[in-house]
Amino acid sequence: MSELFESTAIKDMVLANRFVRSATWEGLAADDGAVTPRLIDVQAQLALGGVGLVISGHAYVSREGQALSWQLGVDSDGSIPGLTAMADAVHAAGGKIALQLAHAGSRGAFQISGIEPMGPSVMETDSGPVGREMTIGDIEEAADAFARAAARARGAGFDAVQIHAAHGYLLSQYLSPYFNKRKDDYGGGIENRARLPVEVLKAIRKAVGSAFPVLIKLNSEDFLPGGLTVQEMIEAAVMLEEAGIDAIEISGGTFLSGKNKPSRTGTQDP
Ligand SMILES: Cc1cc2nc3c(=O)[nH]c(=O)nc-3n(C[C@H](O)[C@H](O)[C@H](O)COP(=O)(O)O)c2cc1C
Repeated sequence: MSELFESTAIKDMVLANRFVRSATWEGLAADDGAVTPRLIDVQAQLALGGVGLVISGHAYVSREGQALSWQLGVDSDGSIPGLTAMADAVHAAGGKIALQLAHAGSRGAFQISGIEPMGPSVMETDSGPVGREMTIGDIEEAADAFARAAARARGAGFDAVQIHAAHGYLLSQYLSPYFNKRKDDYGGGIENRARLPVEVLKAIRKAVGSAFPVLIKLNSEDFLPGGLTVQEMIEAAVMLEEAGIDAIEISGGTFLSGKNKPSRTGTQDP
Protein backbone atom coordinates (compact mmCIF):
# COMPACT_ATOMS: atom_id res chain seq x y z
CA MET A 1 0.00 0.00 0.00
CA SER A 2 1.18 3.52 -0.70
CA GLU A 3 2.97 5.38 2.08
CA LEU A 4 0.24 8.02 1.68
CA PHE A 5 -2.07 5.78 3.69
CA GLU A 6 0.39 5.21 6.52
CA SER A 7 0.15 6.99 9.84
CA THR A 8 2.65 9.74 10.60
CA ALA A 9 3.23 12.33 13.33
CA ILE A 10 4.31 15.93 13.69
CA LYS A 11 5.46 16.16 17.28
CA ASP A 12 2.64 14.58 19.33
CA MET A 13 0.05 15.18 16.59
CA VAL A 14 -0.51 11.68 15.21
CA LEU A 15 -2.14 11.65 11.75
CA ALA A 16 -4.05 8.67 10.37
CA ASN A 17 -2.45 9.17 6.94
CA ARG A 18 -0.45 11.67 4.85
CA PHE A 19 -3.44 13.39 3.23
CA VAL A 20 -3.53 17.09 4.10
CA ARG A 21 -6.27 19.46 2.99
CA SER A 22 -4.33 22.60 2.07
CA ALA A 23 -5.86 25.74 3.56
CA THR A 24 -8.82 26.85 1.49
CA TRP A 25 -11.01 29.90 2.07
CA GLU A 26 -14.53 28.47 2.10
CA GLY A 27 -16.44 31.77 2.26
CA LEU A 28 -18.66 30.20 4.91
CA ALA A 29 -17.82 32.21 8.02
CA ALA A 30 -20.30 34.82 9.31
CA ASP A 31 -19.99 38.49 8.36
CA ASP A 32 -18.02 39.08 11.57
CA GLY A 33 -15.64 36.13 10.97
CA ALA A 34 -17.42 33.76 13.36
CA VAL A 35 -17.64 30.02 12.76
CA THR A 36 -20.98 28.89 11.27
CA PRO A 37 -22.64 25.44 11.27
CA ARG A 38 -22.00 25.15 7.50
CA LEU A 39 -18.29 25.82 8.01
CA ILE A 40 -18.11 23.19 10.76
CA ASP A 41 -19.87 20.72 8.50
CA VAL A 42 -17.37 21.22 5.66
CA GLN A 43 -14.40 20.53 7.96
CA ALA A 44 -16.11 17.48 9.51
CA GLN A 45 -16.95 16.09 6.05
CA LEU A 46 -13.30 16.38 5.03
CA ALA A 47 -12.26 14.39 8.09
CA LEU A 48 -15.03 11.84 7.52
CA GLY A 49 -13.80 11.48 3.95
CA GLY A 50 -10.44 10.38 5.30
CA VAL A 51 -8.25 13.50 5.23
CA GLY A 52 -5.65 13.00 7.97
CA LEU A 53 -5.03 16.72 8.59
CA VAL A 54 -7.49 19.46 7.71
CA ILE A 55 -5.98 22.94 7.52
CA SER A 56 -8.66 25.61 7.93
CA GLY A 57 -9.12 28.46 5.50
CA HIS A 58 -6.94 31.47 6.30
CA ALA A 59 -8.11 33.07 9.55
CA TYR A 60 -7.27 36.74 10.06
CA VAL A 61 -5.32 37.47 13.24
CA SER A 62 -6.32 41.13 13.32
CA ARG A 63 -9.08 43.12 11.72
CA GLU A 64 -6.89 45.10 9.31
CA GLY A 65 -5.44 41.78 8.14
CA GLN A 66 -8.78 40.54 6.76
CA ALA A 67 -8.57 39.77 3.04
CA LEU A 68 -12.00 38.53 1.98
CA SER A 69 -15.67 38.48 2.92
CA TRP A 70 -16.98 35.58 5.01
CA GLN A 71 -13.40 34.81 6.04
CA LEU A 72 -12.78 33.13 9.38
CA GLY A 73 -11.51 35.47 12.12
CA VAL A 74 -9.35 34.60 15.13
CA ASP A 75 -8.78 38.20 16.16
CA SER A 76 -10.64 38.11 19.47
CA ASP A 77 -11.41 35.76 22.34
CA GLY A 78 -15.02 35.80 21.14
CA SER A 79 -13.92 33.45 18.33
CA ILE A 80 -12.95 30.68 20.76
CA PRO A 81 -16.36 28.97 21.33
CA GLY A 82 -17.00 28.62 17.58
CA LEU A 83 -13.48 27.38 16.93
CA THR A 84 -13.88 24.86 19.76
CA ALA A 85 -17.01 23.48 18.10
CA MET A 86 -15.10 23.21 14.80
CA ALA A 87 -12.17 21.34 16.36
CA ASP A 88 -14.53 19.04 18.27
CA ALA A 89 -16.43 18.14 15.08
CA VAL A 90 -13.24 17.20 13.23
CA HIS A 91 -12.00 15.14 16.17
CA ALA A 92 -15.35 13.35 16.40
CA ALA A 93 -14.94 12.49 12.70
CA GLY A 94 -11.52 10.97 13.39
CA GLY A 95 -9.36 13.77 11.97
CA LYS A 96 -6.91 16.41 13.13
CA ILE A 97 -7.20 20.12 12.43
CA ALA A 98 -4.76 23.04 12.14
CA LEU A 99 -5.83 26.67 12.10
CA GLN A 100 -4.16 28.75 9.38
CA LEU A 101 -3.15 32.12 10.83
CA ALA A 102 -3.13 34.94 8.32
CA HIS A 103 -2.65 38.67 7.84
CA ALA A 104 -3.27 40.13 4.40
CA GLY A 105 -0.84 43.06 4.77
CA SER A 106 -1.21 45.47 1.86
CA ARG A 107 -3.97 43.22 0.53
CA GLY A 108 -6.16 44.04 3.55
CA ALA A 109 -9.77 44.63 2.53
CA PHE A 110 -10.35 48.30 3.33
CA GLN A 111 -13.91 48.03 1.97
CA ILE A 112 -14.71 45.46 4.71
CA SER A 113 -12.63 46.57 7.71
CA GLY A 114 -12.56 50.31 7.02
CA ILE A 115 -8.89 50.23 8.10
CA GLU A 116 -6.11 51.38 5.78
CA PRO A 117 -4.03 48.34 4.78
CA MET A 118 -0.35 48.24 5.68
CA GLY A 119 2.64 46.26 4.52
CA PRO A 120 6.43 46.29 4.47
CA SER A 121 6.26 49.13 1.95
CA VAL A 122 3.62 51.11 0.10
CA MET A 123 2.42 48.74 -2.63
CA GLU A 124 2.64 50.18 -6.13
CA THR A 125 -0.18 48.97 -8.39
CA ASP A 126 -1.46 49.88 -11.84
CA SER A 127 -4.18 51.91 -10.14
CA GLY A 128 -1.75 53.75 -7.86
CA PRO A 129 -0.11 53.29 -4.44
CA VAL A 130 -1.92 51.07 -1.90
CA GLY A 131 -1.56 51.03 1.89
CA ARG A 132 1.09 52.46 4.15
CA GLU A 133 4.55 51.36 5.26
CA MET A 134 4.49 49.64 8.66
CA THR A 135 6.27 51.22 11.62
CA ILE A 136 8.36 49.13 14.02
CA GLY A 137 5.40 49.38 16.42
CA ASP A 138 3.10 47.95 13.72
CA ILE A 139 5.56 45.09 13.16
CA GLU A 140 5.67 44.22 16.87
CA GLU A 141 1.88 44.42 17.10
CA ALA A 142 1.48 42.12 14.08
CA ALA A 143 3.77 39.48 15.65
CA ASP A 144 1.79 39.76 18.91
CA ALA A 145 -1.49 39.36 17.01
CA PHE A 146 -0.22 36.09 15.46
CA ALA A 147 0.85 34.89 18.93
CA ARG A 148 -2.51 35.74 20.55
CA ALA A 149 -4.34 34.01 17.69
CA ALA A 150 -2.19 30.87 18.09
CA ALA A 151 -2.98 30.78 21.81
CA ARG A 152 -6.70 30.99 20.98
CA ALA A 153 -6.37 28.09 18.51
CA ARG A 154 -4.61 25.97 21.09
CA GLY A 155 -7.19 26.91 23.72
CA ALA A 156 -9.98 25.92 21.30
CA GLY A 157 -8.51 22.42 20.95
CA PHE A 158 -6.83 22.74 17.54
CA ASP A 159 -3.99 20.26 17.05
CA ALA A 160 -1.64 22.71 15.31
CA VAL A 161 -1.40 26.12 13.70
CA GLN A 162 -0.04 27.00 10.28
CA ILE A 163 1.47 30.43 9.64
CA HIS A 164 0.39 31.74 6.21
CA ALA A 165 3.59 33.17 4.72
CA ALA A 166 2.71 32.53 1.06
CA HIS A 167 0.69 34.05 -1.79
CA GLY A 168 1.63 37.73 -1.45
CA TYR A 169 0.01 38.33 1.93
CA LEU A 170 1.79 40.10 4.80
CA LEU A 171 4.60 37.65 5.65
CA SER A 172 5.07 36.75 2.00
CA GLN A 173 5.30 40.48 1.24
CA TYR A 174 8.14 40.76 3.78
CA LEU A 175 9.97 37.79 2.23
CA SER A 176 9.61 39.18 -1.28
CA PRO A 177 11.92 41.84 -2.74
CA TYR A 178 9.06 42.66 -5.13
CA PHE A 179 6.94 44.01 -2.25
CA ASN A 180 9.57 44.73 0.43
CA LYS A 181 11.56 47.89 -0.31
CA ARG A 182 12.47 48.63 3.33
CA LYS A 183 15.83 50.09 4.22
CA ASP A 184 15.82 48.96 7.89
CA ASP A 185 16.49 45.57 9.54
CA TYR A 186 13.36 44.12 7.91
CA GLY A 187 14.38 44.81 4.30
CA GLY A 188 17.36 44.11 2.02
CA GLY A 189 18.92 40.61 2.04
CA ILE A 190 16.89 37.49 2.71
CA GLU A 191 18.16 37.30 6.32
CA ASN A 192 16.44 40.65 6.89
CA ARG A 193 13.34 39.92 4.81
CA ALA A 194 12.82 36.66 6.74
CA ARG A 195 13.12 38.48 10.07
CA LEU A 196 9.39 39.08 10.60
CA PRO A 197 8.31 35.51 9.71
CA VAL A 198 10.96 34.22 12.15
CA GLU A 199 9.85 36.70 14.83
CA VAL A 200 6.24 35.62 14.32
CA LEU A 201 7.28 31.99 14.79
CA LYS A 202 9.18 32.86 17.98
CA ALA A 203 6.25 34.88 19.37
CA ILE A 204 3.87 31.99 18.61
CA ARG A 205 6.25 29.50 20.20
CA LYS A 206 6.33 31.61 23.36
CA ALA A 207 2.53 31.66 23.43
CA VAL A 208 1.87 27.95 22.76
CA GLY A 209 4.94 26.21 24.19
CA SER A 210 7.50 23.87 22.68
CA ALA A 211 5.25 20.79 22.35
CA PHE A 212 2.58 22.35 20.10
CA PRO A 213 3.06 21.81 16.33
CA VAL A 214 3.66 25.05 14.42
CA LEU A 215 3.67 24.78 10.62
CA ILE A 216 4.28 27.38 7.92
CA LYS A 217 3.23 27.78 4.27
CA LEU A 218 5.88 29.40 2.06
CA ASN A 219 6.11 30.32 -1.59
CA SER A 220 8.60 28.21 -3.54
CA GLU A 221 8.92 31.41 -5.53
CA ASP A 222 6.71 34.35 -6.36
CA PHE A 223 6.69 33.87 -10.13
CA LEU A 224 7.14 37.63 -10.41
CA PRO A 225 10.04 39.56 -11.97
CA GLY A 226 12.11 40.71 -8.98
CA GLY A 227 10.19 38.42 -6.61
CA LEU A 228 11.27 35.74 -4.10
CA THR A 229 13.45 33.05 -5.71
CA VAL A 230 13.77 29.34 -4.93
CA GLN A 231 17.27 29.87 -3.51
CA GLU A 232 16.02 32.59 -1.16
CA MET A 233 13.07 30.43 -0.09
CA ILE A 234 15.53 27.70 0.87
CA GLU A 235 17.55 30.19 2.94
CA ALA A 236 14.39 31.38 4.69
CA ALA A 237 13.34 27.76 5.29
CA VAL A 238 16.68 27.02 6.96
CA MET A 239 16.24 30.07 9.23
CA LEU A 240 12.75 28.88 10.14
CA GLU A 241 14.01 25.38 10.84
CA GLU A 242 16.69 26.77 13.14
CA ALA A 243 13.97 28.78 14.92
CA GLY A 244 11.94 25.59 15.53
CA ILE A 245 9.34 25.26 12.76
CA ASP A 246 7.79 21.76 12.71
CA ALA A 247 6.75 21.47 9.05
CA ILE A 248 6.90 23.57 5.89
CA GLU A 249 4.27 23.45 3.14
CA ILE A 250 5.51 24.73 -0.19
CA SER A 251 3.14 26.62 -2.48
CA GLY A 252 3.84 29.43 -4.93
CA GLY A 253 2.70 32.59 -6.66
CA THR A 254 0.90 35.76 -5.67
CA PHE A 255 -2.26 37.55 -6.78
CA LEU A 256 -0.07 39.40 -9.31
CA SER A 257 1.52 36.26 -10.80
CA GLY A 258 -0.86 35.76 -13.72
CA LYS A 259 -1.43 32.09 -14.49
CA ASN A 260 0.75 31.24 -11.47
CA LYS A 261 -1.51 32.93 -8.96
CA PRO A 262 -2.24 30.61 -6.00
CA SER A 263 -5.84 29.85 -6.87
CA ARG A 264 -4.56 28.80 -10.34
CA THR A 265 -7.83 28.45 -12.21
CA GLY A 266 -10.46 30.02 -9.95
CA THR A 267 -11.75 33.56 -9.85
CA GLN A 268 -10.68 34.21 -6.23
CA ASP A 269 -7.18 35.28 -5.26
CA PRO A 270 -6.32 33.86 -1.80
C1 LIG B 1 -10.97 29.03 -3.59
C2 LIG B 1 -9.57 28.90 -3.06
C3 LIG B 1 -9.32 29.33 -1.76
C4 LIG B 1 -8.03 29.24 -1.22
N1 LIG B 1 -7.79 29.64 0.07
C5 LIG B 1 -6.55 29.55 0.59
C6 LIG B 1 -6.31 29.91 1.93
O1 LIG B 1 -7.19 30.30 2.69
N2 LIG B 1 -5.02 29.79 2.40
C7 LIG B 1 -4.01 29.33 1.61
O2 LIG B 1 -2.88 29.23 2.08
N3 LIG B 1 -4.23 28.96 0.35
C8 LIG B 1 -5.47 29.04 -0.17
N4 LIG B 1 -5.70 28.62 -1.45
C9 LIG B 1 -4.60 28.04 -2.23
C10 LIG B 1 -4.56 26.54 -2.10
O3 LIG B 1 -4.49 26.09 -0.76
C11 LIG B 1 -3.31 25.96 -2.80
O4 LIG B 1 -2.16 26.52 -2.20
C12 LIG B 1 -3.38 26.31 -4.28
O5 LIG B 1 -4.51 25.69 -4.82
C13 LIG B 1 -2.14 25.92 -5.05
O6 LIG B 1 -1.68 24.63 -4.77
P1 LIG B 1 -0.19 24.42 -4.29
O7 LIG B 1 -0.03 25.26 -3.05
O8 LIG B 1 -0.07 22.93 -3.98
O9 LIG B 1 0.72 24.86 -5.39
C14 LIG B 1 -6.98 28.71 -2.00
C15 LIG B 1 -7.25 28.26 -3.30
C16 LIG B 1 -8.51 28.37 -3.83
C17 LIG B 1 -8.79 27.88 -5.23
